[in-house]
Amino acid sequence: MAQTRTYVVLLGVPGAGKGTQAQLLQQATGLPQISTGDLFRYNLKHQTELGRLAKRYMDAGNLVPDQVTIQMVADRLEQPDCTRGALLDGFPRNLLQAAALERLVAPYGGVASAPLIQVEDEETIRRITGRRTCRLCGAVYHLTFNPPRSPARCDNDGGELYQRDDDHEETVRNRLFVYYKQTAPLIGYYFAKGLLHEIDGARSIEEVQQELLALVKQP
Ligand code: AP5
Ligand code: ZN
Repeated sequence: MAQTRTYVVLLGVPGAGKGTQAQLLQQATGLPQISTGDLFRYNLKHQTELGRLAKRYMDAGNLVPDQVTIQMVADRLEQPDCTRGALLDGFPRNLLQAAALERLVAPYGGVASAPLIQVEDEETIRRITGRRTCRLCGAVYHLTFNPPRSPARCDNDGGELYQRDDDHEETVRNRLFVYYKQTAPLIGYYFAKGLLHEIDGARSIEEVQQELLALVKQP
C-alpha cells in the first residue's frame, strides 16, 4: 500500500460552518481544503462547460450529477498539493459519492475521520442569509457573527464581498430538504465505520475549530 494520507470528510447541513472550519484547518494543518461548491463556483466564474452545467442545479439548490462531481474530485485529488491528504468540504453528498471516494482513497489508508458539525435548521438559515464571501480569495464572513473590519471588503485583500446566488431563503430551504434526503444517510454510513465524530456547531467559530483541530491532529 502507498503511504497513508489524511482525508477528512466534513459533514453538516448547508451553513453549518464546513467551509469556515475547513479554511481554518487548512491554515493550521497545511492540508488543502477541497470544496466542491467552490470548485463549481470557480468554473461558473470562468464560464466553463462544467460551470454552466452546475449552475442549473445549484440555482435550484439541487445536487449536480454524480458522474461529473466525482470526476472533478478525482482530478483534484491528483494535484500535487494533495500528497498528504485533503479536507473534503461538501463531498461526498450521497452514498454513491461516498463509495466513489472510498475507492479513490483506499490505496492511502481510506478516510481518517468524518466530523459532523451539528446546527439547528433555523440557525443555519440565519448563518446563510448573513453570509458574505470574498470575490478574490473566497474568505467567508457573516454580517453579525464574523463581520469584516470594513463593510463589504475582505480583511485579507480588500476584495469585494458578495452574497451567493443560492443563499436566498427559498433555495436554502430546498438545500436543507436535499440534505436530509440525500446527504443525511452518510451519518449512518460513517458511524458504521467508526469514523463519525459529532461536534456541537452552535458554539463559537474558535471553539468548534479547537475541537476539530484536536481530532485532525490525532495520530
Ligand atoms: P456548497 O457550496 O457545498 O454549499 P453547502 O453545503 O450548502 O454549504 P455552505 O457553503 O452553504 O455552508 P458551510 O457549511 O460551508 O457554511 P459556512 O462555513 O460558509 O454547495 C453549493 C451547491 O453546489 C449545492 O447546493 C449543489 O448544487 C452543488 N454541490 C456542491 N457539492 C456537491 C456535491 N458533492 N455533489 C453534487 N452537488 C454539489 O458558514 C455559513 C455562515 O455562518 C458564514 O457566514 C459564517 O461566517 C457563519 N458561521 C460559521 N460558523 C459559525 C459559528 N460557529 N458561529 C456563528 N457563525 C458562523
Ligand atoms: Zn479576500
